[in-house]
Parts: sequence; structure tokens; C-alpha cells
Amino acid sequence: MTLQNKVILVTGGAKRIGRSIALALAEEGADVAIHYGTSEAEARALGFPCFQADLESVPEIRALFDRVANHFGRMDGVVNNAARFTRFDPLDIEEADWDFIHSVNLKSVFFCCQAAAKIMLPQGGGSIVNISSLGALRPWEEHAHYCASKAGVVMLTKALAKAWAPHIAVNTVAPGVIPFDAIDARIEKFIAASPAKRAGTGEEVAEAVLNFLRGSRFTTGQLVAVDGGLSQR
Ligand SMILES: NC(=O)c1ccc[n+]([C@@H]2O[C@H](COP(=O)([O-])OP(=O)(O)OC[C@H]3O[C@@H](n4cnc5c(N)ncnc54)[C@H](OP(=O)(O)O)[C@@H]3O)[C@@H](O)[C@H]2O)c1
Repeated sequence: MTLQNKVILVTGGAKRIGRSIALALAEEGADVAIHYGTSEAEARALGFPCFQADLESVPEIRALFDRVANHFGRMDGVVNNAARFTRFDPLDIEEADWDFIHSVNLKSVFFCCQAAAKIMLPQGGGSIVNISSLGALRPWEEHAHYCASKAGVVMLTKALAKAWAPHIAVNTVAPGVIPFDAIDARIEKFIAASPAKRAGTGEEVAEAVLNFLRGSRFTTGQLVAVDGGLSQR
């Protein structure tokens, strides 16, 4: 399928991986909608229609999807990219720390998928790509809460793929180490352990996302790791 003139929403699309995905989509002729939370200047600088919402709020998620669908008249694809990342010794995690991660990384992904499906099903279908993480596949002891949220995204993807086949394809891309800031000792360790012996780029994650969006809806419930082979260790 060509992405020409397909309306595709990227959540958390103003910066980093989301920005790479948005730019790659535009390169292929898609009509890109950028969702942002706080990064308004970076979102507007991309030059695509931008939509603000706090994804912790289900009413705001529903309003976001209504606004995008009203603006473009339809919605063909969604990339659920927005997420949070924190680091804790599991003994130190409080309820609020757990909820901080899960409210965005897992709960909002479900309600974004639901809102997307309510638009896509009446128009004949579409494609959803949820961004999970290598942390969904490999246990990171100081990120137990994050790993659990991203593993949840993987199973959510499979269950929704089953629920909405053959109309909506739901797949997941699991990035490995995709640095945008200075590389610290922890990241160096990941790179050294990686068969590829390097970090990945936003463009490489975008390529995997676009492959799913372009692909047949017969491919659904699947996961592709963009991790230089690290998940195979
Ligand atoms: N970078 C990596 O190495 C890596 C590795 C594995 C997985 N991933 C996954 O890849 C995706 C992108 O990661 P990233 O590192 O590029 O970006 P990121 O910094 O993790 O977050 C992307 C965006 O999510 C948005 N966001 C967070 N909470 C929000 C909320 N409550 N409401 C609205 N928006 C919210 C933020 O938008 P605003 O800035 O507009 O507020 C943020 O810019 C994430 O799902 C991440 O878990 C990344």
C-alpha cells in the first residue's frame, strides 16, 4: 500500500523517534498529524497540523482523535509513540511512580487504540503501530515498572489485532538503544553487548514503522525489534 495522502497520527511526534517517524511519513506523501504534550514549539516547527493533549486523560485522548478526524475527514493510521521512562530500584517504587509510567505507556496506548478503531472501523479499516521497547523483551532490573508497561503493550497489540482483524492491523515496533543525548556508561554497555556494536537511529525505527503501515493488514499482531540483534542475546 502506498502511504500517499494517508492520514496518519503520530503521538509524541514533536521530538526524537516520533519526529523521525513523522518526517519519514511525510517523505512518503502521507498527511501527517502531530500530537504533542508539552513540546509545542518543536511540534509546530515540523510544519504539519499539530494537536495538543495530555495522554494521561482519557477525555483528552478522545477529544484529540475527534479533532484529528474532523480536521482531515478520516484517519488511516496511528503510531502510538508517546511514552515515559524512569529508573528506580524496585524496592523504592511508590504507587505514584508506578502510575506515572503506566498511565501513559500502557493505559493511554489502549485508549488511543480504542479511539482510533472507533474512527477506522466505520470507514473500512486502518493500521495501528504501537511502539513498545526492547525492555518488553529483556528484563531491566531498575526499570521493572517500565518493562512491565511495555510488555503490556506487546500483549495489548496482539489482543487488539485479534479483536479488529481483518479490518485494522495492529502491530508493534520495539526499539533497542536509540540515543538522542550524550551516550553514558550505561548506554555504552548496551552497545558493547549488542551484536551490531552500535546504537540505532530514529530513522531505523521509522523504517520498521512504515513497513507495517505500508504492509497488508494480513500482517497483524506482530512485533519487530529494531535493536541491532540485542534481543537475541
Ligand atoms: N529512545 C530509546 O532509546 C527508546 C528505546 C526503547 C523504546 N523507546 C520507545 O520509543 C518511543 C519514543 O521514545 P523517545 O525516546 O523518542 O521519546 P520519549 O522522550 O520517550 O517520549 C516521546 C514523547 O512522549 C510524549 N509524552 C509523554 N508523556 C505524555 C503525556 N502525558 N501526554 C502527552 N504526551 C506525552 C512527550 O511529548 P511532549 O515532548 O510533546 O510533551 C515526548 O516527547 C517511546 O514509546 C519509547 O518508550 C525508545
